Amino acid sequence: MLILKGTISQMQIQLRGWTGSKNMPKKGPKVVVIGAGIAGVGAAGKLLTQGLTDVQIIEASSQPGGRIRGSLFGKSTIDEGAQYIHGASTKNPVYQLAKEHDLLQETHDRSGPELLVLTNMQKQLDPDIVKEVKNLARNILQNAHLLAHQRGYAQAKSLADVYLEEVKMLLTQWVGDHTDLRRQKQGFLSMLMKLQCAHLAAASLGEVSVHEYEEYKNIEGNDRSSPGLFPNLLQKLLEAIPREKLLLKKPIKQIQWNGSFESGGSSVYSVRVVCEDGDHILADHIIVSISLGCLKANGQAFFQPRLPEQKLSAIQSLGFGTMNKIYLEYETPFWDENTDVIGLVWEDETPFSVQKPNLTEWWKHVPVFYVIRPTERYGHVLVGTISGKEAEFVESLNPQEVASRCTYLFRQFTGRSSLPELKSVYVTKWFSNPYTRGSYSHISITSTGAMIDQLAEPLPQATEGSSSPMLQVLFAGEATHRSYHSTTHGALLSGWREATRLIDHYSTK
Ligand SMILES: Cc1cc2nc3c(=O)[nH]c(=O)nc-3n(C[C@H](O)[C@H](O)[C@H](O)COP(=O)(O)OP(=O)(O)OC[C@H]3O[C@@H](n4cnc5c(N)ncnc54)[C@H](O)[C@@H]3O)c2cc1C
Ligand SMILES: *[C@@H]1O[C@H](CO)[C@@H](O)[C@H](O)[C@H]1NC(C)=O
Ligand SMILES: *[C@@H]1O[C@H](CO)[C@@H](O)[C@H](O)[C@H]1NC(C)=O
Repeated sequence: MLILKGTISQMQIQLRGWTGSKNMPKKGPKVVVIGAGIAGVGAAGKLLTQGLTDVQIIEASSQPGGRIRGSLFGKSTIDEGAQYIHGASTKNPVYQLAKEHDLLQETHDRSGPELLVLTNMQKQLDPDIVKEVKNLARNILQNAHLLAHQRGYAQAKSLADVYLEEVKMLLTQWVGDHTDLRRQKQGFLSMLMKLQCAHLAAASLGEVSVHEYEEYKNIEGNDRSSPGLFPNLLQKLLEAIPREKLLLKKPIKQIQWNGSFESGGSSVYSVRVVCEDGDHILADHIIVSISLGCLKANGQAFFQPRLPEQKLSAIQSLGFGTMNKIYLEYETPFWDENTDVIGLVWEDETPFSVQKPNLTEWWKHVPVFYVIRPTERYGHVLVGTISGKEAEFVESLNPQEVASRCTYLFRQFTGRSSLPELKSVYVTKWFSNPYTRGSYSHISITSTGAMIDQLAEPLPQATEGSSSPMLQVLFAGEATHRSYHSTTHGALLSGWREATRLIDHYSTK
């Protein structure tokens, strides 16, 4: 069945090549995919299996994978980027693939994580209060757009605007509480804000539009991870791609489109990709899957002719922030066997005070440390998350400095003057990585969900010179998926979407 399908689309492609082109018939359209992240690799795999076989992936790094790559730390491979399947159910294509390839054997479900919340005054928050306040905060954020609507806010407001309004009301309800408890609850609400910023890769909730959770769709199912999940998934996806079709260590410098570039033969191509090493690669279609951070930094210079205003404005306006991970490996654990997450609450903080960054106290912006399991595989490893300016700042520190700060932090929160020895520390550097320039996208207060669709729209736009070839430059990648941006499944679906766009283009008469 599969082979038959492939043969038919191949036939149709050749037929169209014959009848549709003014020039000499080519073997088939040539597609270049820029970037070998999950979107690019997914797109190339789909093209190849569906009969568009003249495909080349060009990747800047020495490794494929982009934001799903792993790296060696302690006893095992840890995730620099993605770790969880958000929404582990058959509705999630990443879950489906993981299932299909049997990558979830050692699965670790994050459905009911044991959250231990400590304060800088060596107190532990009551689990019932943790649960109650966590639910309150989640409801506010998830429904922020509805709350904003109820209040009759005319302009797009930020998540912080809505959150702080609700917090004011909560504080009036908490007047009866003991002062210590009120302080702890406020500190916890602040911790949850920082945690939310880490989830959104945002510097502050003041930067994120209330429309974020209106556009972003949760897939049913828990967050799930399994050791080596994403690196293994990448290997599986790469199996569909012959080695010679993947060019590594080949950063591209410019994309020249809407042209007539002649190859050595008699074929004419509308796109020319210029690599930093001076090589030129011609194509009928290119799928650009580099991060929004890279588009923001290079968008103007990358494209020749310039991108249409609307597209440039989407690139500039949409949010793309940094979230980094701080991995700590210990000789022996100082946490309980049951603890999955350690939350750090500063009792002197309030949701109103945490809005401003203070780089000299970057560690105050680390809301939680997760325990990495299973221990037999990883050893005793914690991973902290940090976002925003503080996350950019830690990239500039030397690991020893980060390590001693974290030790100091845990001493302060546990009240134990001697803690087990720290064996190693590793901090991800998503912001200074020139081929990512941040972590992932969100809908900032200057943007809308519609801009994500504008970002995803192929070039040339329908209105531009109808005589020029269609679908010259296509856009994939996490940030081009309106309802699943910021995730691996969003990235994968965006790659498949663009591959399907080309396949459909050649299979309709
Ligand atoms: C810290 C962190 C944690 C995350 N956690 C999760 C999670 O738990 N679950 C989840 O679902 N998602 C998570 N994500 C998001 C997820 O990793 C991404 O959404 C997804 O991997 C993006 O894939 P992509 O193909 O769109 O982009 P990328 O993976 O960034 O791929 C783009 C590729 O383009 C290459 N490139 C860039 N510039 C050039 C150039 N000039 N020339 C040639 N090549 C170039 C890059 O090297 C890269 O390989 C996380 C991300 C980060 C950073
Ligand atoms: C930032 O933190 C430092 C170190 O604790 C402190 O001295 C300084 O006052 C803080 N700055 C602001 C603006 O709060
Ligand atoms: C693309 O080329 C066509 C035909 O030459 C021209 O009409 C159109 O303006 C060009 N578009 C851009 C964005 O340069």
